[in-house]
Amino acid sequence: MARTQVVIVGGGPSGLLLGQLLFKAGIEAVVLERKTREYVLGRIRAGVLERGLVGLMGEAGVDTRMKAEGFVHDGTQLAYDGDMFRVDFTAHTDATVMVYGQTEVTRDLYDARAATGGDTRFEVDNVVIHDADTDAPFVTFDQNGTAQRIDCDYIAGCDGFHGISRKTIPAFVRREYEKVYPFGWLGILSETPPVNHELIYANSDRGFALCSMRNAQLSRYYIQCDVDDHVGNWSDDAFWDELRRRIPAAAAETLVTGPSIEKSIAPLRSFVTEPMRWGRLFLCGDAAHIVPPTGAKGLNTAASDVHYLNQGLRQFYGDGDSRGLDTYSEKALARVWKTERFSWWFSNLMHHYPSQSDFDKKMQLAELAFLRDSPEAQAAMALNYVGLPY
Ligand code: APR
Ligand code: PHB
Repeated sequence: MARTQVVIVGGGPSGLLLGQLLFKAGIEAVVLERKTREYVLGRIRAGVLERGLVGLMGEAGVDTRMKAEGFVHDGTQLAYDGDMFRVDFTAHTDATVMVYGQTEVTRDLYDARAATGGDTRFEVDNVVIHDADTDAPFVTFDQNGTAQRIDCDYIAGCDGFHGISRKTIPAFVRREYEKVYPFGWLGILSETPPVNHELIYANSDRGFALCSMRNAQLSRYYIQCDVDDHVGNWSDDAFWDELRRRIPAAAAETLVTGPSIEKSIAPLRSFVTEPMRWGRLFLCGDAAHIVPPTGAKGLNTAASDVHYLNQGLRQFYGDGDSRGLDTYSEKALARVWKTERFSWWFSNLMHHYPSQSDFDKKMQLAELAFLRDSPEAQAAMALNYVGLPY
């Protein structure tokens, strides 16, 4: 039996970021992770960091490599009807984004946690949260076949969509909202130079496409695919051919292709659970909400949750004031819903719906033309893309 101040269930980016911020505030935390470090780092996820997350990486003392290796982007490209226009972030906001892979963020957080002697338990099983609705919560789990128990003040549920934390909140307390999109994303990673110095989001008659990057020799590309499609149906050549058909001709001509080093299909879904707090249990990140990847908001919304929880815990351990914790769910959800809206709006604007009528298509094209021609519309997109203030 052990005791700590905060048990963090889940050693993904939200659990680790919270762990580092709490360490900076002198607040003790134990991270419980079901998998190994290597397994967690093996997951390929998105790579655009909002200004808020860039700031939090600095606050946590883990921004050195991000600043050295990440790309600062002050705009993005939208393509449709063979045309392409730019949304300039700095023209409309005083902010930029950082293109730096989520895998690298997670690696930097793991390195920092190891360097600061953070207590991380890997390969734990049967994690159970007990008495979160009392003043004496505790967590039990098995590790190396030994049953363990940690008593604590608070529990942060950072264990993703498939974790146990959300389900610890009684069903009668939870209210869940979900939208499943009728398409997926087929993504590849290739050791080729990016086709463009900025991201290209393309709406084509054949469906959506995205040209992104990790560094000058590592590119990430996505094409919209059928929801029940299978990676086995797509050779690398078939992928490149289809991508070329969906992006502007100028980009298609300069596209450097090569063997994929990772290829996977991701479903598109919007999901939110309310409330994000139950007694001494606080949900962060994918444990509470999922966004379609179109706006690259998954990691960034996890970070804003971590920001609010970090502030609440600091306030409580700092001067015994629990107002930050008492308003955590409300504050976090207010920003979550706005980000859900942006991700839903951007997904609807850029994808081809199987049931789409010609009129629907015209609506998309008219909205894209409005976005191209209206500084006000571009300002709204830029503000959401760089990240709404916390
Ligand atoms: N016990 C311990 N650890 C668990 C358990 C459990 N029962 N269930 C899940 N985990 C671990 C997973 O192995 C994973 O490493 O919790 C971690 C959750 O990490 P993520 O799923 O990455 O969630 P989060 O940290 O909230 O990050 C959100 O990840 O999926 C992307 O798009 C998403 O970018 C967003 C980010
Ligand atoms: C990525 O680089 O993987 C990426 C970038 C932007 C998105 C989604 C994914 O909107």
